[in-house]
Amino acid sequence: MRSLSGGFPISSNRSGTGGKDPVHLPGDPRPPVLGGPLRGHPPVRPDRITASHPLLVETLRTEGYHAEVSSVGETDIAIAGGYAPEQLLYSGPGKSASGLQSALAAGVRTFSVESVTDRDRLDALAERVGAKCRHLVRLNGPAGSAGGSLRMAGRPTAFGVDTTETEALSSLLTRRKHTRPVGLHTYFATNVGDEDGLIAEFQRAVHAASAVCHDAGFTPEPLDLGGGFPAPQAVPGEIVRHPRLAGAIENALDRNLAGWRARGMEVAFESGRYLVAAAGTLVTEVLDVKRSHGRLFSVLDAGVNALGGMSGLGRLVSPGTRPYHLESSRRAAEPETVDAPAVTLVGPLCTPLDVLNRLVDMGEIRVGDLLAVPNVGAYGLTASLLGFLSHPLPVEVVHTGGTVESVRRLTLNETRL
Ligand SMILES: Cc1ncc(COP(=O)(O)O)c(C=O)c1O
Repeated sequence: MRSLSGGFPISSNRSGTGGKDPVHLPGDPRPPVLGGPLRGHPPVRPDRITASHPLLVETLRTEGYHAEVSSVGETDIAIAGGYAPEQLLYSGPGKSASGLQSALAAGVRTFSVESVTDRDRLDALAERVGAKCRHLVRLNGPAGSAGGSLRMAGRPTAFGVDTTETEALSSLLTRRKHTRPVGLHTYFATNVGDEDGLIAEFQRAVHAASAVCHDAGFTPEPLDLGGGFPAPQAVPGEIVRHPRLAGAIENALDRNLAGWRARGMEVAFESGRYLVAAAGTLVTEVLDVKRSHGRLFSVLDAGVNALGGMSGLGRLVSPGTRPYHLESSRRAAEPETVDAPAVTLVGPLCTPLDVLNRLVDMGEIRVGDLLAVPNVGAYGLTASLLGFLSHPLPVEVVHTGGTVESVRRLTLNETRL
């Protein structure tokens, strides 16, 4: 197995020296997302990869993971990472006609549908290109826990079909000319804090899916139970194992969907950030250190344009990013000041929303220091405000065990229409 030890290091304005300080990451080989296999069942390979670099995607593919995509761009990345289009599951609540057309033209044939409108649009477009598609029906089950950093089910959301909407479900579980229902899909929340929380969520998901199956007389071939597996994000730490999870899910399946093993029902999970969070480090340079109204600020060359972009919109709390000093960037001759004050880390954008940490103890921080933000492999740059204020994007360096495999810089292109 190839060791994956770097995702997208390096600061906004330099070019390709990030491999200099390779960061050896924990969690390799990747631990099984459920803590173990489901007994008496073929190995379950979780899907939904949130790696945004084709080389990371390729590594996961060679390890046997499936892939779920939810945009034209993710489809392209998955195909660039070596997936055959017919292996992909295409999902998402807002599938546009042009997005579906591109996916169909690329050869994608399995979709998760989120409403009757969504399924009918797919059916009509599939007819146009003479394609036969399979679909999973995404469910929004009854109220779940309050856990997870973002909830997609168990409350009013744009995701899936409420399990109480029997008319819509009966339509979605009926074959159309070009689309055939083959399974169910649910995704409750991201980043659920602990194993007990995950167990409760999966039990509820199995229960909700089985109730729909019983009511509609439907037998799923694949049952995609979603994810929510937590991982550290932009702070030090390792992913947590879940040794009781596989057994608990197995019991829930046995209790609610008798015969699932004998039928060979495929059980899928969306492991998301769990697989790739550790495969990324952002290296950023300290451009300025200054005091403002009594507070110490450090201005970095990467902010919400490169990391944690949604917080920059003011809709999420600003990230508690905790970088560490890359030792090689310190000038050994200069003595450290003891009792350095805590500092506010901000990015280079002209907005007070560009904050990576409101107050963090960094020890002494000096202009020219290089800071490394660990555990930013999940989503990479794609979760950032890349276009905002038109700064150059960070250079992405992929390295395995310190050997540089690829250096690239994404750009926004203008297409005249
Ligand atoms: C349907 C679906 N699958 C998978 C994921 C990946 O989740 P995460 O990376 O938080 O584990 C998400 C995240 O929003 C999602 O909406």
